[in-house]
Amino acid sequence: MNNLNRLFQFASNIGVQGPLYAIANARIHSPIPLEAVENWKFWNEPKSSWVESLARAYPPSSRRKAYLDSMLAQDHATGIESHYDISNDFYALFLDTKYKFYTCAEFFRDEETLEEAQENKAKYLLSLLNLNGNEKVLDLGCGWGAMLKYLQDTGHYGELTGFTLSKEQLTYTREKLGLNVSLTNFITAPFGNTPCDRILSIGALEHVRPQELKQLYEKIYNSLTPKGLAVHQFFSFERESYPASAILLQLFFPGSLLVIHRHHIEAAESVGFRITHDSIHDYKPTIKAWYERLVENQKKALELVGLEIYNRYMTFFPVAWLFFEQKEAELHRIVMEK
Ligand SMILES: C[S@@+](CC[C@H](N)C(=O)[O-])C[C@H]1O[C@@H](n2cnc3c(N)ncnc32)[C@H](O)[C@@H]1O
Repeated sequence: MNNLNRLFQFASNIGVQGPLYAIANARIHSPIPLEAVENWKFWNEPKSSWVESLARAYPPSSRRKAYLDSMLAQDHATGIESHYDISNDFYALFLDTKYKFYTCAEFFRDEETLEEAQENKAKYLLSLLNLNGNEKVLDLGCGWGAMLKYLQDTGHYGELTGFTLSKEQLTYTREKLGLNVSLTNFITAPFGNTPCDRILSIGALEHVRPQELKQLYEKIYNSLTPKGLAVHQFFSFERESYPASAILLQLFFPGSLLVIHRHHIEAAESVGFRITHDSIHDYKPTIKAWYERLVENQKKALELVGLEIYNRYMTFFPVAWLFFEQKEAELHRIVMEK
């Protein structure tokens, strides 16, 4: 994009999506790689109160809703493919090397590596799943197969199945890991003919739109065996439905809109689930670890995906960190009992 085009794009973004989005998009289209320290500071140093107020208030809520509704008109796969189907080798540059979890880890101590922290998280989720070893487990939005592989590695011998909407992930999980994964939209498609003992999702319910939630929980409930469990890790808005940050997030997850946490709980309870666990965890150390690894691997990343995608992730991580720092959203782990 030349300078004139960048200027037009910036002006148009200011008018439609507001200043936060316009600035982020301009930085993504920077003609040079974003510099690590300056870039992190740019998003995360305290701003004056009028800048904060403008960023939160513009565009006004009726305009935000109209824009988000137009983004939500696209089908799920388009947004998912644009985020996940970039290059498996690119993701491998910053995710943990053993499992490739692309979700919040659990750092108990600052010195822990990302690999240790992801195994801490997997162990935590395993304890919530309360397995004997022979249960049928379905992973909604299984990514690069991380949790399914962890279950295998820790001795699970019951049937394991995963759904994803990413073709790159499908190839990886089937060909590299030999897992039973299919390209299935868990929002619109049935889950199969035989009930599951456990239904799991890690970082996938973020892609479920508010109006789809109740139907999805109903399907999860009906697809579980009696006394079956659903275990979910996801982040959700704490307060407003259409904050300015929801517009900014369209740059990274087009067509996804977070649900307010209370609405998750109400939807799950309304179909019959009993919530037996709901804990909050800190996403920020994981995001910082991914950022640092991406910066360390800048040269390879640029070779693999080019400047724009590199700058997109360099922008995504500090924006996401700030999002959790300001407690716009919180990361929950939840157990729902049938
Ligand atoms: C953030 S990744 C998390 C992957 C994995 N659970 C992990 O912990 O690394 C989100 C995953 O949800 C999947 N996903 C999102 N919406 C989906 C849908 N409607 N149907 C199937 N998979 C979906 C994506 O393809 C991706 O695999």
